[in-house]
Amino acid sequence: MTDPYAEIARFYDAEWDGVETDTAFYGRHGGAGPLLILGCGSGRVVRGLEGVRPVVGLDRSEPMLVAARGRSSSTYVQGDMCAFDVGRFAEIVIPNASFSFLLTRAEQAACLACCRRALLPDGSLWIDVPMPDFARQAESHTAEKPAWQGVIDGVPARRTREVFRWAEAQRLDLIDRYWREDALITTSTLALRLAYPAELEWMLEACGFYVDAMFGDHGAGPIRAGSPRIIVRARL
Ligand SMILES: C[S@@+](CC[C@H](N)C(=O)[O-])C[C@H]1O[C@@H](n2cnc3c(N)ncnc32)[C@H](O)[C@@H]1O
Repeated sequence: MTDPYAEIARFYDAEWDGVETDTAFYGRHGGAGPLLILGCGSGRVVRGLEGVRPVVGLDRSEPMLVAARGRSSSTYVQGDMCAFDVGRFAEIVIPNASFSFLLTRAEQAACLACCRRALLPDGSLWIDVPMPDFARQAESHTAEKPAWQGVIDGVPARRTREVFRWAEAQRLDLIDRYWREDALITTSTLALRLAYPAELEWMLEACGFYVDAMFGDHGAGPIRAGSPRIIVRARL
């Protein structure tokens, strides 16, 4: 399949550098021992945690991994989170919507089976995905609007986002356009599948885990109406 990050990897860190709420969360609530980050991208979460424990990052996007390797000495592996075997870990984290990129039940189940095999006894798995936007469920299309602005290579830049939704399939296409001043630099389509809290619980239980903690934000607040995230910790 084509890599939706191939074109935008060079812009990713300009937008995400400095976002530390999730790494701080894993620093507070995560365990100890070897850690595997699935869908590590350009290494933001790896860099936030590598100072205190050994971390391996896995991602399918080589351009994202090139950016990651240039910024830290942790081990980065190119691979699919639905078919990996890179050792055994005390903890696995699938951060920042990376699990939402798995579009089919077969992919979700394959990923969880790999996680089971990769976890040491007493290990734990964290999955962090966005809470579905209930207010927009029935909106099949949200017109392009501003999503970020900053600086890329010293030049003012911005990103806009247009969204297509298929509520019945829990699917979203995010059309991200990157602009330098008024010139369009590149467009990427991120295809995501949403999940609901109880669905994640069922999925994990069906794949041999039990869920022992669930939060609605990186401040460890409970799941409630309007929570931005679903953050699940599962054990074997
Ligand atoms: C939203 S980015 C998150 C990157 C990083 N974790 C962060 O928070 O900055 C999602 C990442 O998941 C990766 N990804 C999506 N599907 C994947 C798969 N099947 N196997 C491995 N990586 C995948 C993408 O390449 C991308 O780097």
